[in-house]
Amino acid sequence: MEPHMLTLFLLLIAALLAHAGAGITSSYRRSLLGLSAMPFDADVFRPPPGYNAPEQVHITQGDLTGRAMTVSWVTPHHPGSNVVRYGLAADNLTRFAEGTVRRYAFGGSYQSGHIHHATLSGLDHATVYHYAVGYGYENVRRFSFKTPPAPGPETTIRFGVIGDLGQTAHSNDTLAHYEARPGDAVLFIGDLSYADNHPAHDNRRWDSWARFVERNVAYQPWIWTTGNHEIDFAPEIGETVPFKPFTNRYRTPFRASNSTEPFFYSVKMGPAHVIMLSSYTSYGKYTPQWTWLQDELTTRVDRNVTPWLIICVHSPWYNTNEYHYMEGETMRVQFERWVVDAKADIVFAGHVHSYERTHRVSNVAYDIANGKATPAFNVSAPVYVTIGDGGNIEGLATTFRSPQPDYSAFREASFGHATLEIMNKTHAYYEWHRNQDGVKVVADKAWFTNRYWLPTDTN
Ligand SMILES: [Fe+2]
Repeated sequence: MEPHMLTLFLLLIAALLAHAGAGITSSYRRSLLGLSAMPFDADVFRPPPGYNAPEQVHITQGDLTGRAMTVSWVTPHHPGSNVVRYGLAADNLTRFAEGTVRRYAFGGSYQSGHIHHATLSGLDHATVYHYAVGYGYENVRRFSFKTPPAPGPETTIRFGVIGDLGQTAHSNDTLAHYEARPGDAVLFIGDLSYADNHPAHDNRRWDSWARFVERNVAYQPWIWTTGNHEIDFAPEIGETVPFKPFTNRYRTPFRASNSTEPFFYSVKMGPAHVIMLSSYTSYGKYTPQWTWLQDELTTRVDRNVTPWLIICVHSPWYNTNEYHYMEGETMRVQFERWVVDAKADIVFAGHVHSYERTHRVSNVAYDIANGKATPAFNVSAPVYVTIGDGGNIEGLATTFRSPQPDYSAFREASFGHATLEIMNKTHAYYEWHRNQDGVKVVADKAWFTNRYWLPTDTN
């Protein structure tokens, strides 16, 4: 071979190898069509039998570490009993918690049922509790849950990660696939019911969504991040208070983490310190969220106790899809430096209705004059996962930007959910489960090593 031919040959091989190491844009396609919400008479929305039976039962962590659990439910016709009975055996519910009850109206035509919230406290960690609601002349309904392990570096936990779920047949697939091998708790990354996509924000869709997901969220805590579909700002029908349905229906344990608003807060669950941020609550300098996050990251995160630092936020900071492109940029500029300095492990976002995982990247060198606005690989940076692919009424976001940036490890426009299994203080196993013609398929997976204790991988 001539020397110049050899050079060309070697260059060709090098180019092929470089391409082989680039990110993957999966060509897999299924169910591109957005589907309508399942009809109100679908079986997944069926109210429980019996007059005024408690429905829409859901639980979330009720304090900082999981020694309390908040139970919420709705009685449709009248308040009824406001008590949760609970205990260590299903036939021996010796303890009880008294809740609060409220209703709200929306848009002049909707009146909610009676919404109850009760916090069971004084629980032991890593313990199964049975509970029941609906005493008196209603119909008692019984459930159970397991509290998370006490915060500690030797504990394990398995999270489900679901975003932008909605209530279509795709949503039902996603939930069913998670239920096939459920974790201990769900990190929900915002956009719950999509009621606001219906005329006058038809709040009956908040009710149907809560009946739909009860089959899982009554049995394990879902930790709530709020998305744009929770804002429900509708001045045209007289609704000017943001987050009105969400805040009436859902509780977060924000006070336990020194927060002043229910939209940004943290919980500790076994080996994980999980921070929920709000893309739709002010986060500029000096605002309550900015002040809280600074204090949280600098004074309340202890990697000796909770080795894993996870952040959930609805609008992604790194997203290479045309859909919602750069909507999270202002928050990234505000908070990314802190997140890198804190050596956060993973940032989960939603909002974009497709799936994407990045390598560890940051873009913190830039100031307004130096021109250094290029993302760079950074061993202290988190992996960014976009998981807004629960299956909602708006359909998939199928147009990725091209070429795929080198920090984008894998991206695919399909519906699905993720799981994150923290094995010990150094290793966690992550999977993304695609919805594929009625079955779940692991389409992306990675081992993550801890950024504080073993910052070796470049995933
Ligand atoms: Fe969204």
